[in-house]
Amino acid sequence: MDRGVVVIGAGVMGHGIAQLFAQAGARVRLHDLDEARLAPGLAAVETSLALLVEEEVLSPAEAAAARSRIRPATRLEAALAGAGVVVEAIPELLEEKQALFERIERVVGDDTLIASTTSTLPISRLAARARRPERMVVAHFFNPAQLIPLVEVVPHPSMPQAAVAEVLAMLRRLGKHPVLLRREVPGFVANRLQAALLREAFHLVELGVASAEEIDAVVTEGPGLRWPFAGPIETADLGGLDTWLRLLDNLGSELSKAEQAPAVLRELVASGQLGAKSGRGLIDWTARPVAERLAARDRFLVRLAKLKGR
Ligand SMILES: NC(=O)c1ccc[n+]([C@@H]2O[C@H](COP(=O)([O-])OP(=O)(O)OC[C@H]3O[C@@H](n4cnc5c(N)ncnc54)[C@H](O)[C@@H]3O)[C@@H](O)[C@H]2O)c1
Repeated sequence: MDRGVVVIGAGVMGHGIAQLFAQAGARVRLHDLDEARLAPGLAAVETSLALLVEEEVLSPAEAAAARSRIRPATRLEAALAGAGVVVEAIPELLEEKQALFERIERVVGDDTLIASTTSTLPISRLAARARRPERMVVAHFFNPAQLIPLVEVVPHPSMPQAAVAEVLAMLRRLGKHPVLLRREVPGFVANRLQAALLREAFHLVELGVASAEEIDAVVTEGPGLRWPFAGPIETADLGGLDTWLRLLDNLGSELSKAEQAPAVLRELVASGQLGAKSGRGLIDWTARPVAERLAARDRFLVRLAKLKGR
């Protein structure tokens, strides 16, 4: 981090990742294609730092110092000069990411770490055209990246153990909780778990068992309350594995086994109901200001982190 960090893509993920490094004291260049695309990212950093000051996680001076360490940059090659760490956060398109890595490698030194926050693409495919794949790693952050501790880490198989250890140490210095996957699997761990839960949630909506709001309440007022404290496996152990054995045996035949996205989701997307961003999804957002909801979520996450002693 001493040599500076470059974050590429100032969208949903990139600005939060830039903020994290800046809070940890690194000089960060945040690159996007033009000023218009950088502006919302920089504004989001301001909003997030203001929240951290309000919640007394940062002093006003610390927040100002973090903000001053982030330099917006529209010229990629100039931004990359001398970088020690590069984090790619552009859209989930393999070809575009591979082309970007080729451009990055033409400029940076051989020892520069190149990380991608891809949600789905395996590191071996991302690095397929790389000159030095052994310095490439997936570091899958979670939205909002500046507040959610988990980062799933999938190094290229050729990355030396010592370099993997350095990646994990760097993420810990950012206050993150890295989890190193033992091998490459599509969806890593978190999105596979989320997909399993969401598949069943949509299945229950389709069966008419409960509404979308009721299903969400079942999670936020029920098992979800335990998860910030104990994960599902410890919860099973605490509850008794004999009970869970019977539960899984009894329910196995009842659960959705769908291999494709559910019809209800396909129909909503086809009709332009994309969720909060289009005003309606499974939930009606017209009477629910999205910005307020997101701000409330972020404040909740900050307070939860305090409760967890972070
Ligand atoms: N949104 C999430 O919840 C989430 C969570 C974890 C990981 N991810 C992953 O993070 C990555 C970024 O997702 P996002 O949601 O932040 O996307 P986004 O669309 O919000 O932001 C992407 C940004 O990259 C910029 N960009 C596009 N091409 C570029 C290029 N060639 N050079 C420089 N900038 C470029 C765009 O202008 C945009 O500002 C994706 O791989 C995604 O799968 C997303």
